[in-house]
Amino acid sequence: MLELTRVSKWFGGLPALQEVSFRLETGRVTALIGPNGAGKSTLINCISGVDPAGEGAIRLAGRAIETLPAHVIAGLGIARTFQNLKLFDRLSVLDNVLVGLTVTAERSFFRSMLRLPALRHQERRLRLRGLEALDDFGLAEKAAWPAAALAYGEKKRVEMARAFVSRPRLVLLDEPVAGLNAVETAGIARHIRQQRNAGHTMLLVEHDMELVMDVADQVVVLDSGRCIASGPPAAIRNNPRVLEAYLGRMEATA
Ligand SMILES: Nc1ncnc2c1ncn2[C@@H]1O[C@H](COP(=O)(O)OP(=O)(O)OP(=O)(O)O)[C@@H](O)[C@H]1O
Ligand SMILES: [Mg+2]
Repeated sequence: MLELTRVSKWFGGLPALQEVSFRLETGRVTALIGPNGAGKSTLINCISGVDPAGEGAIRLAGRAIETLPAHVIAGLGIARTFQNLKLFDRLSVLDNVLVGLTVTAERSFFRSMLRLPALRHQERRLRLRGLEALDDFGLAEKAAWPAAALAYGEKKRVEMARAFVSRPRLVLLDEPVAGLNAVETAGIARHIRQQRNAGHTMLLVEHDMELVMDVADQVVVLDSGRCIASGPPAAIRNNPRVLEAYLGRMEATA
């Protein structure tokens, strides 16, 4: 599905990613873990085209995407959420989700805004799809609320609904449970499993190891911009290099 080959990225001469290579398999959840500052969000920005890689190749189903702009990559079927919420506070919850459809349905969306009678059904179809996505994340009854009125955990779910609404090939989730309590986290885990069972491919950046062990089929570990390990969750849990990356960092900050 997605193949990264020796992806590197620098910020002002400092390396944030150094020759990172791995693959994402179709229909699988791959977790991307690593200590703070390891380069996880930077990698998501490279894949989604928000902040392109400096070097290396990124291929989506064989097609090179590393130099394409973000909206083209989104149109090819890669959706994402952000570590820091990016919702339009004054728009309704439903409209926030519909933003996720404008990429793939841009033309029909704008034509339907002209309210041509023959095209009204398209607008209805899009809104129905948005409501379905909200329903998948338990938010259908709040579709008309302004996004600002939602609790933090609900906002995280709106972002997920927006990422999944276009039925993308690949969804990049940047810390979907950060700041959530145990009940909310269990809810997100359930949503991720449901989306996986529906055939979605996901890259999950997460610090919550319980969630990672619970939902991931494969784990990739970054440390200081380098990929230091990859494999099934059980193997990663006991990998000495991974333990050292985490424990070393904890000792350094203790
Ligand atoms: N826009 C930027 N300009 C300069 N340096 C940056 C920028 N974005 C990230 N960095 C640096 O790149 C490195 C990787 O950051 P990144 O945000 O990708 O880490 P992360 O693994 O997502 O960490 P966290 O778990 O804290 O979210 C860090 O050293 C960070 O300071
Ligand atoms: Mg991050």
